[in-house]
Amino acid sequence: MDTNLARLQRITPTEADSFADTVLDGLARSPKEIACKYFYDEAGSRLFDQICELPEYYQTRTEVALLKRHAGEIAALMGSGVEIVEFGAGSLRKVRILLDAAHNPRAYTPLDISGDYLSDVVRVLAADYPALTLRPLVGDFTRPLEIPALSTPSRRAGFFPGSTIGNFKPDAAMALLRRMRSNLNGGGLLVGVDLVKDPVRLHAAYNDAAGVTALFNKNLLARANRELGADFDLDAFAHYAPYNAAAHRIEMYLVSLKRQTVTLAGRHFEFAQGEPLHTEDSHKYTIESFREMACRAGFSPRAVWTDEDRLFSMHWLESR
Ligand SMILES: C[S@@+](CC[C@H](N)C(=O)[O-])C[C@H]1O[C@@H](n2cnc3c(N)ncnc32)[C@H](O)[C@@H]1O
Repeated sequence: MDTNLARLQRITPTEADSFADTVLDGLARSPKEIACKYFYDEAGSRLFDQICELPEYYQTRTEVALLKRHAGEIAALMGSGVEIVEFGAGSLRKVRILLDAAHNPRAYTPLDISGDYLSDVVRVLAADYPALTLRPLVGDFTRPLEIPALSTPSRRAGFFPGSTIGNFKPDAAMALLRRMRSNLNGGGLLVGVDLVKDPVRLHAAYNDAAGVTALFNKNLLARANRELGADFDLDAFAHYAPYNAAAHRIEMYLVSLKRQTVTLAGRHFEFAQGEPLHTEDSHKYTIESFREMACRAGFSPRAVWTDEDRLFSMHWLESR
């Protein structure tokens, strides 16, 4: 075991029980829905990594380019000796750019709901950064959250890339930013936010030609079959992800291709032909609308960086 790598620590209750409750509750609703955080078991995390490589998925490429271009400025804003806390850390690829530029970082604390995947990727990072203290946390940042202090507490800087903030409706997004702020103990937050743009481009990003996003969406049903013994027929549902221009968001659904009954935990759920199951929203912001929300969450927006085509933005927010 690498000595710089602490044991994976769970800081919110296991999501396995809540997955069962969420699916049972969500299938009984009208319209039917399941929260997108349940996409991310190990298979879902790996599918998301494939999405990041797709030609249509401009988000990852653009955010990585912004991070590389502005790493020096970001490192100066974060300051020396900070603990970098990443929310929804995923593959841990983007943080390498920050770690390479950071001034003597005290520790890196990745937090993710996808525990098995985090356990794999953090081992690779630990081998590549032997001098860095790594403290992986498994938890759900939508729940009350307390990130434990290090043995010698230091200033924190938050990192929240990937426009994961877009997966929350504006009120929930603001509440999430507040929760992060209170965990940063006065430190700043670097957030990646996807921008409002040509709906054709947005539509293509969530409806890729290779069908990887469709597989990612259907992993929710595959996961329910694997973990909960449900009997979803994956071929009897279609991936559907339209852009709702009035609400500035991509909406993701699985649409039942026929009249069918799904059985889970002894309960039966009827789907009409064409009935949608809502699985995700991805809200898009303007730079101004995101900064306004950050203000309402108790941050002072400072630097903001965007690409020439204004596809994506990165915001440095200071705690007030
Ligand atoms: C859109 S992906 C972004 C991944 C990575 N940060 C990036 O920028 O490529 C969202 C990430 O957040 C994690 N996640 C989603 N909901 C979460 C929650 N409620 N609590 C903790 N992590 C969550 C997922 O497991 C996934 O790794």
